[in-house]
Amino acid sequence: MKVLLINGSPRPQGCTYTALQEMASQFEKLGIETEIFQIGNKPIRGCIGCRKCRQTGRCVFDDDIANALADKMSQAEGFVLGSPVYFAGPNGAFCAALDRVFFSCPNLQDKVGASIVSCRRGGASAAFDRLNKYIAIRNCTMPGSQYWNSVHGNTPEEVRQDLEGLQTMRTLAVNMAAILKNQALPQAVRPERENPVHTNYIR
Ligand SMILES: Cc1cc2nc3c(=O)[nH]c(=O)nc-3n(C[C@H](O)[C@H](O)[C@H](O)COP(=O)(O)O)c2cc1C
Repeated sequence: MKVLLINGSPRPQGCTYTALQEMASQFEKLGIETEIFQIGNKPIRGCIGCRKCRQTGRCVFDDDIANALADKMSQAEGFVLGSPVYFAGPNGAFCAALDRVFFSCPNLQDKVGASIVSCRRGGASAAFDRLNKYIAIRNCTMPGSQYWNSVHGNTPEEVRQDLEGLQTMRTLAVNMAAILKNQALPQAVRPERENPVHTNYIR
């Protein structure tokens, strides 16, 4: 059982990473494997709406991290979208990758997904909402925590002083682990779904 922790910051060991590491340590204590995926600081294309992925299950562009991220997410039972707050939203480059991953990847439903954000001072809940939208629209199960999933700090040292934020990360990992373990039980109830209908609001 594995959870992929995605660092949507170009800073590989910054504040978002520090929050994800807090979750990784908690998952490890609970016997759940983790891997941190770094989006890095190279360019990431936006979606061009070509819809070729509807036939192939993959984005046509293979020159950045989007398809590698989709592969890693497909292989894990759970994932965490982690981002720094930029102007009260998630990092735009991260959203560019997520637009393509969540549009193209056919294997995300039934996964346990959560998001976390890191900010210096404000905009955390707006960024958190934005990331949660990716998870909510793909038939994933999204656990909560004891507060909204954010840490505060401009440096990893400051994040380490945010004791409530770090506890919120640990609680989120505990709640995710419980759902993942319950889902793995042979008697777990699996959802039966209708075939999706797309009406574009036209009758
Ligand atoms: C372009 C940019 C925009 C930012 N916008 C905000 C903001 O709206 N609110 C805030 O509190 N911090 C803002 N910050 C600060 C970062 O969110 C904060 O330092 C975060 O913890 C950095 O995480 P990281 O080290 O993982 O990149 C911004 C930083 C940058 C580089």
